[in-house]
Amino acid sequence: MSQRTCLSVILAAGEGTRMKSGMPKVLHAIAGRPMVAHVVKAAEAAGATGLALVIGHGADEMRKAAQKFAPEAETFVQEKRLGTAHAVLAAREAISKGYDDILVMFGDTPLIDAGALAAARQKLADGAAVAVIGFRPPSPTGYGRLIEKDGHLVAIREEKDCSEEEKKIGFCNAGMMAVAGKHALRLLDKVGNKNAKGEYYLTDIVEIACAEGLDVVATEASFENALGINNRAELAEAEAIWQARRRREAMLSGVTLIAPETVYFSHDTEIGADTIVEPNVWFGPGVRIASGAKIHAFSHIEGATIASNCDVGPFARLRPGADLRNKAKVGNFCEVKQATIEEGAKVNHLTYIGDARVGAAANIGAGTITCNYDGYSKFFTDIGEGAFVGSNSSLVAPVTIGKGGYIASGSVITESVPDDALAFGRARQKTIPGKGKELRERFASAAAARKKAAAE
Ligand code: UD1
Ligand code: MG
Repeated sequence: MSQRTCLSVILAAGEGTRMKSGMPKVLHAIAGRPMVAHVVKAAEAAGATGLALVIGHGADEMRKAAQKFAPEAETFVQEKRLGTAHAVLAAREAISKGYDDILVMFGDTPLIDAGALAAARQKLADGAAVAVIGFRPPSPTGYGRLIEKDGHLVAIREEKDCSEEEKKIGFCNAGMMAVAGKHALRLLDKVGNKNAKGEYYLTDIVEIACAEGLDVVATEASFENALGINNRAELAEAEAIWQARRRREAMLSGVTLIAPETVYFSHDTEIGADTIVEPNVWFGPGVRIASGAKIHAFSHIEGATIASNCDVGPFARLRPGADLRNKAKVGNFCEVKQATIEEGAKVNHLTYIGDARVGAAANIGAGTITCNYDGYSKFFTDIGEGAFVGSNSSLVAPVTIGKGGYIASGSVITESVPDDALAFGRARQKTIPGKGKELRERFASAAAARKKAAAE
């Protein structure tokens, strides 16, 4: 099968009114990636060599988004939504290029599995002209029913066109199908619109192919594969299924999730074996974690790279560009953005490190802030290897703390500190003997006088 070329035609012209959204339905995300991008990935994993995206509603926004998730895709606009067959024909130009297989998919069915698509393509490789992906939903209402005879598919009947007898059939059309490229356009061009909805139904090609004496079959996939998203409740349902799959995959690959149902992955999260993730952790897009790291509870991590044996959280926030090297530690209530925390360095408590480098084995005291922004521009803070920054210090960028530099607690550092120097960026302490007692007595007698005056 691998030598067969394959065009995936993804239908995404629908308006998706039930999403109640200004954004096209298929751009709503699952695991941080538009649902239609999940469909594209599945098509690619099933061996699609070409991609045709049929768009309509929000065409400009769709094209722009497609540049990101499928730059190689060709887009076709279906001006009027006259049915699924009509939508596929919008991509006529791509279909006529002579692909072996045409894989028709829906942009709003994000959990479709590459295996289900590959199984349908295999049927074409075995000689079928059309292979429809079927499934058995808990309730078949609303779906097209697959009508079989002697192991062959003879028709797909839409709910509205079904007889009472046909409505009892539980085997339904998931919507997606594989069609032999050499027959596709001829079959599609024969589709009419004489049905209850007055639409050009893609599903009619089953009967048309049968009438031509071609072989038509159905494959069976799980319900999830066919889960179509029409509203935000279904979007959340699909997200939950996706997350459950991903958590399981992570655990089976050697990651410990203490409370898996509370850990959220993105589509591209990479996480190495023997990493332990405590409860309530969120991974946004672009996170890579090596093996043996510990991600403590309630951490929010996106766009970050975490090397082996790092320790993160609890309650850590790693933002894009956070780069933690081997054995680095970022503790509670710390935020790190666009900064490298080099090997063994510690940023343990209540700290903001942004646009910075923290050298190997440096220690950043509680409450340290890199003042990286003046309201207009961002500036860099460079902290050398083995430096010690005392608690509650502000490092006003651009500024450099040399190797082994030592910053007194409570400093506001505005000038660079040479290697191994000690810097105080605060007023010297003044101590006046007996002055505390004197003040206390003065304040007490003043308060007593006020009380007495009020009582008189
Ligand atoms: C379709 C199938 C039905 C199947 C069901 C599974 C047909 C005729 N029916 O019905 O057998 O059980 O999916 O969910 O195919 N679209 C366009 N342009 C159009 C019409 C549709 O792009 O002119 C897109 C929609 O945006 C959607 C997909 O095609 O992504 C399916 O269309 P929809 O109207 O949802 O079809 P169903 O009635 O659900
Ligand atoms: Mg539908």
